Amino acid sequence: MAVPVVTIDGPGGAGKGTVASAIANALGWHLLDSGALYRIIAVAGVADGIALDDAQALVEMSEGLDIVFDDGQVRVNGANLTDAIRTEEAGNNASQVAALPPVRDAIFALQQGFRRAPGLVADGRDMGTVVFTDAPVKIFLDASAEARAERRYNQLKNNGLGVNLRALLEQIQERDARDRERVVAPLKPADDALIIDSTEMTIDEVVATVMTQISSKVE
Ligand code: DC
Repeated sequence: MAVPVVTIDGPGGAGKGTVASAIANALGWHLLDSGALYRIIAVAGVADGIALDDAQALVEMSEGLDIVFDDGQVRVNGANLTDAIRTEEAGNNASQVAALPPVRDAIFALQQGFRRAPGLVADGRDMGTVVFTDAPVKIFLDASAEARAERRYNQLKNNGLGVNLRALLEQIQERDARDRERVVAPLKPADDALIIDSTEMTIDEVVATVMTQISSKVE
């Protein structure tokens, strides 16, 4: 039998990462944070002086990356990039490199390699529509742009970083538009996805909804 996969797609800031790791922990399954891969390519590309629209150079560079996810830490060719890939700039740059089809193709097999027993929780934009089309459980986690900007604002403020709510909202709307309108693997729910709008929900409520869906679809 195929190793089961739960895909959790949706726009940035909807809570996918938190929900995906809570589900993976609860089930003892593997976790794929696919956004981190695009962030790593963007950060490593900038460090190498590669233009963010130079698909060929980005693909060649990414082939030489040794990426290790370990206990919440991200190491690339031995360097710890855990914090570097989490900045707003890295997210915006990731959205640009993610719009390039050759870059998406280059990490397709790498992503599928995360599917190992006893199961995988995969978080991203196209997990259910492109990478794991046969996943028995597909979730599309949405929330209003305003709610997502506010959550991000509180998160950054708690980390002691000065931010402007309006600027954050504009960045989120710009990134949404680019992710939704791109030609390849645009952000959209799979036909067979359960759509959850988390605008008015707590993380615990979202996790409980997803767990119920998993129990009804996976033995
Ligand atoms: O989820 P995130 O914020 O870490 O993702 C960063 C960017 O990567 C996001 O703007 C779009 C892109 N991405 C993608 O195109 N496909 C995925 N499966 C995951 C992320």
